[in-house]
Amino acid sequence: MKKLTAFLLSATTALACFAANPTLTIDATHPVGKVSPRLYGLMTEEINHSYDGGLYAELIRNRAFLDDASTPIHWSVFTNGGGEASIALDPANAFNDKLTTSLRLTVTKASKKEPAGVANSGYWGIPVQPNTRYHATLLVKAAPGFTGPVTVSIVSDDGSAVYASKSFSGLGADWKKCEIPLKTGKVGPTTMARFALALDRPGTIWISFVSLFPPTWNARPNGLRKDLMQMLVDMNPKFLRFPGGNYLEGDTIESRFDWKKTIGPVAERQLLVNRWNYEFLHRPAPDYYQSFGLGFYEFFQLCEDIGAQPLPILNCGLACQFNSGEACRMEDLDAYIQDALDLIEFANGPTNSVWGAKRATMGHPEPFNLKMMGVGNENWDQPYIERYTRFHAVLKEKHPEIQIVSSAGPFPDDARFKFAWAKLRELHADIIDEHCYAKPDWFFNNTHRFDGYDRNGPKVFFGEYAAQSDKVASVKNRNNLECAIAEAAYMTGLERNGEVLLKPFSPPYYPTMTDAVRAAVEIKFGANGVFRSESPGSAWTRHREVSRQVPPISDAAIAGVAETLFKSGDGEKGNGKQLTAEQLDAVRKIVELGGKFARLARLCKSEGLELRQHEG
Ligand code: AHR
Repeated sequence: MKKLTAFLLSATTALACFAANPTLTIDATHPVGKVSPRLYGLMTEEINHSYDGGLYAELIRNRAFLDDASTPIHWSVFTNGGGEASIALDPANAFNDKLTTSLRLTVTKASKKEPAGVANSGYWGIPVQPNTRYHATLLVKAAPGFTGPVTVSIVSDDGSAVYASKSFSGLGADWKKCEIPLKTGKVGPTTMARFALALDRPGTIWISFVSLFPPTWNARPNGLRKDLMQMLVDMNPKFLRFPGGNYLEGDTIESRFDWKKTIGPVAERQLLVNRWNYEFLHRPAPDYYQSFGLGFYEFFQLCEDIGAQPLPILNCGLACQFNSGEACRMEDLDAYIQDALDLIEFANGPTNSVWGAKRATMGHPEPFNLKMMGVGNENWDQPYIERYTRFHAVLKEKHPEIQIVSSAGPFPDDARFKFAWAKLRELHADIIDEHCYAKPDWFFNNTHRFDGYDRNGPKVFFGEYAAQSDKVASVKNRNNLECAIAEAAYMTGLERNGEVLLKPFSPPYYPTMTDAVRAAVEIKFGANGVFRSESPGSAWTRHREVSRQVPPISDAAIAGVAETLFKSGDGEKGNGKQLTAEQLDAVRKIVELGGKFARLARLCKSEGLELRQHEG
């Protein structure tokens, strides 16, 4: 294909492309390679709220009041004009040793007409849909003299509209778990709403854990968001990599991802601050915590639901080498290896094994059929190889049925990469995970990268790749046309080399609302809407979905996403106003135009035509 230069595209040139009516001849009698049956899978990571605030359907943000030790962030008092109330964190009234604080709500003045209480703003507002059942769960107790009622509701941001509401009483000095169904009526969808707890008379209550779920995928308690799950199903991924990413490494050993802390009773899963809060100066998000409500049990279930093989990646005893690079002592490595063995037992073991029993207790006596597991993410040099070697020896001896994915470091051709490949080849590693974030030129120049790979050596897992319009991790990176075409061109090389590339991924999937860490995302979402990105790379995966038309983007999805974008302002607090028709229209045009350009680009590329686009 001719190299893409400066862009200049007008409607006339576009029409001229079609008018040329070129012929494309395909010689199907001489196939050049097999496309791997395991093309493509998905990469997920807890970045840009892809899990909490995203796939995980929980609507309450800071549900255990533990996100910030000094103040109940995302919670605020409301008084409806005449009431008086205050809130404070109260560790002296904790529910247990896991839920180590509570929220004390003290109402000193309130009436039926002017109730007072506390409200949660959710992640991007509480998404309201018509005729929909929500499920609230609360741990609550009251001071002497107050037994209720407490009114739980979903209300508009300005308090003028009540979308769903229910009251309960019977409170006392002991903690009580309340399950409260809420149902909306004939209302318009909006995310300009919040979740509220109100008292209509003076009293004091403590709340320890507050949860609110909309209808979830397969109607599961503690479940996943239906629209995002449907999108995953539609993408038909052959496997799903979780939970990262640098995220699983932690920037210190202490803050690494530990799968064992993500299973068991949801309220007792220990929170962890998310490393992407502070990793980049341009992305400070001090209130990004992980609840681990979407833990490893839920991940295995998710994979089963979407028909994808699970590919969990575990920490190998090294913290992220871009950060502290802290390494566990070699004499402590057995504990990390044991974590891997226990995970295999948790996924596949019989119900009378220690970890298999835990899986059964959580509701899944049948095995999850784990076949692959990753050891380390983007780790490099001797500290990695010496640790991986020990993992490899033990796992191969005890579980030869599990294929191990090892790491070739963060870049596709530097000294770290060459060192890793040499050592991993000697070890007869199963599958090596290569990553690449580079300028579009790299992708154009490497479409033949895998043609010469040894068919008998380790297989390659091209686990993360994205063309970067500016540079790696730049805030200026954009999902532009050049990146889309560069990745699409590169993917032709992936498809041609199925023998060596057993499991290349689609470009990283980071469902996100406002992705300022990287531009390359496959799915974008807001609180009430979701759509697939047209680029980069997804242009090509989309093109493969020959049997299906891309569904048109619904009005509801546009409205939901637009509302979120305008409201959140890239992570900032928005003005909370309803969107104008013009704003909605602007978002629709941007979304649709992006799709048209990507489709046109594919067509021109396949015809060897040069595509130019005006810089502005
Ligand atoms: O995209 C974010 C990070 O990029 C991933 O966590 C990591 O694996 C890669 O460096």
